Amino acid sequence: MRLGLRSFLRHITVLTPLHTRDNVALFMSPASTTAPMTGEEMVALTKRHTLFEWSAQQSVDPLPVSHAKGCYFYTPDGKRFLDFNSQLMCVNIGHGDERVIAAMHEQAKTLAYANPFMATEARARLGAKLAEITPGDIDVFFFTLGGAEANENAIKLARLYTGRHKILARYRSYHGATGGSMTLTGDPRRWANEPGMSGVVHVLDPYHGIQRGWDDATTALALLEEVIQLEGPHTIAAFFIEPVTGTNGILVPPAGYIEGVRAICDKHGILLVADEVMAGFGRTGRWFSIDHWNVVPDLLVMAKGLTSAYVPLGAVGMRRKIADHFRDKVFYGGLTYNSHPLSCATALATLAVYEEDDLVGNARRMGEVMAGLLRDLSDRHPCVGAVRSIGLFGVVELVRSRKTMQPLAPFNGTSPEMQALGRELRNGGVYTFVRWNTFFTNPPLSITEAELRDGFAVADRALTVVDTMLS
Ligand SMILES: Cc1ncc(COP(=O)(O)O)c(C=O)c1O
Repeated sequence: MRLGLRSFLRHITVLTPLHTRDNVALFMSPASTTAPMTGEEMVALTKRHTLFEWSAQQSVDPLPVSHAKGCYFYTPDGKRFLDFNSQLMCVNIGHGDERVIAAMHEQAKTLAYANPFMATEARARLGAKLAEITPGDIDVFFFTLGGAEANENAIKLARLYTGRHKILARYRSYHGATGGSMTLTGDPRRWANEPGMSGVVHVLDPYHGIQRGWDDATTALALLEEVIQLEGPHTIAAFFIEPVTGTNGILVPPAGYIEGVRAICDKHGILLVADEVMAGFGRTGRWFSIDHWNVVPDLLVMAKGLTSAYVPLGAVGMRRKIADHFRDKVFYGGLTYNSHPLSCATALATLAVYEEDDLVGNARRMGEVMAGLLRDLSDRHPCVGAVRSIGLFGVVELVRSRKTMQPLAPFNGTSPEMQALGRELRNGGVYTFVRWNTFFTNPPLSITEAELRDGFAVADRALTVVDTMLS
């Protein structure tokens, strides 16, 4: 067999043991060659030298990914996946958009970095553009590297502005994995990170799981008022909410809830913080999910769709009164990569794509199609207990039986049926998140109706397998 130089190099790097220690063969690292890796090599070397998040390392089974375009990504051996989760609900404009890549290239050539005490054109233009699209009088922005850091800085802004310490957040929420954001997070990812930052109080959501269902706005708001009264309104700086909750189940609040929260916060001088990290940038068919209720939050936290994850960037936007507070008072916060020019230029190009391709409108239009497809799944499959969506932000909740509505996996757990569902989706070439008793339908906002229908056809077949396991 004759080998070309590249494949010969790969051959020897993978197969030649240098020495062994404790029965572990150590190989000349493929990291030291420039030959493209196979999927197996990528997985083996990644698992050997890097730590995967939220996992015991022996249980992770990563997909090797080599390239991506539009709504699809590919493994090195050419298997194509429909990206039904926009990776981590973030690649909103779709993969590999040449307009964004050209802008990144241009910025990298011209000015890859300037420190945060300087002004740059990309930073200047991005602040002004965000002021145009964010609600009400939000028009000043502090840039970070992602969502968690943006929430950390929102906590600081709220405490410095109000002079109060406590922060309210909801149980069915995720706000990030850094110290303060992790403490705000209400879901079980917080448990192992406790005790966290002092002064955080959690409030029950209007949704109580598939068996108990929803409170109406009046009941949910009365619960909130009670917590505020018991904690002392004058001690509370802010209430953080995901206006439409993301990973904890695409929870669209009942009519009147968001307006009621705004009124309660106003009554007590508590800042309302909208965490739009996942629901923002067109995902729900409006620029920001809170726009569905025409409510202006005091602080608006964003990341993910801001650059569609082409590079990392987060931000916290603030209303004029809060920005004015810091005219003569110091904002005690900073980051080496605050307002990174490459990230700001990427965000500007991403926002131009949303506008040029009317992706927010497409999320609305395709969202209607998706709502119909979700209803079809519910009509056809007894294992579907509930479907929810707003725009292209959707979820399916599975149950063991519609009589008892027992979830198909326990809270914070999994089950053989949910694992089978995950396998069927993957084998059918659809990538999405399967979490507890739910799976998500959050494709890029650029998706076509045909692509959407393809994805749902695979979900339909996977649910048939689950129905059969339950019958
Ligand atoms: C609503 C919400 N807030 C904050 C975060 C944290 O963002 P990041 O992972 O960029 O730190 C996430 C991440 O999924 C999120 O969904």
